[in-house]
Amino acid sequence: MMADLFSLDGKVALVTGAARGIGREIAARLAQAGAQVLLSDVEPQLGPEAAAAIAGSAYHNLDVTVQAQWEDIIQTIGDQHGRLDILVNNAGISPAGNIEQSNLDLWRRVQTINVESVFLGCRTALPLMRQSGDGGSIINLSSIQALRPAAELAAYSASKAAVRALTKSVALHAAKDRIRCNSVHPGGVHTRMLDDFAALTGDAEAALVRLNAANPLGRVGRPLDIANGVLYLASDLSAWVTGLELVIDGGSTL
Ligand SMILES: NC(=O)c1ccc[n+]([C@@H]2O[C@H](COP(=O)([O-])OP(=O)(O)OC[C@H]3O[C@@H](n4cnc5c(N)ncnc54)[C@H](O)[C@@H]3O)[C@@H](O)[C@H]2O)c1
Repeated sequence: MMADLFSLDGKVALVTGAARGIGREIAARLAQAGAQVLLSDVEPQLGPEAAAAIAGSAYHNLDVTVQAQWEDIIQTIGDQHGRLDILVNNAGISPAGNIEQSNLDLWRRVQTINVESVFLGCRTALPLMRQSGDGGSIINLSSIQALRPAAELAAYSASKAAVRALTKSVALHAAKDRIRCNSVHPGGVHTRMLDDFAALTGDAEAALVRLNAANPLGRVGRPLDIANGVLYLASDLSAWVTGLELVIDGGSTL
């Protein structure tokens, strides 16, 4: 019975930025729960490799900043499956820089990849998600930086705050069709993104030790910690949950 609540049998899911890191783990978790999962990314090598390792999945190139590519992938899903139940807007970048170090090019690149992508994804996917009449679930990857901005992540913090607000607007708009929209706010999770950030200190290993020690639960996050939260939001266990900001951070924002 419990397993039924988590079951995604018969559901079709699209995950962006799924070639590695958190996105890849989310794709694996959703597939494990029974969904047919389409991984997407801009990684022609890593992307297909990730899909090959996940039973019940396939890979499709999608640059989340390009409207025509969104239209193409949604059309393909409609043609092949006739439905889309779960959309996970996960792709993102986090170049470091405080407000004075961040030039307009960096600002625009971050807003385009982190926010415009979510705007395009939600508005392009909604008509197909609505079509089945079975409701649906959109999950947007924000960050704890949306709630507690970091000086050295000016553009990133602003982009993730925009994702938080956009999520709630979509939640209100789509509720009449039982399509839910929630944001997930990870703390530091050990992926290439965190490694790149730690490397800026000049001693990545020491920085990771410090990050682990600073967390109330004694470690940085693992991609699976986030994927488990996404599974909850994708499944019927969260049938009455929309517009939520699900913080998964080992207590670091408390
Ligand atoms: N790792 C963390 O500590 C952390 C914390 C909070 C939030 N997040 C968020 O979680 C998400 C995943 O982060 P991650 O740590 O796995 O990062 P990552 O850098 O390991 O992976 C990001 C993925 O996004 C893809 N991507 C980048 N630009 C793209 C584009 N234009 N089109 C399609 N795909 C693109 C990359 O190719 C990569 O596969 C991001 O939105 C990130 O902001 C991560």
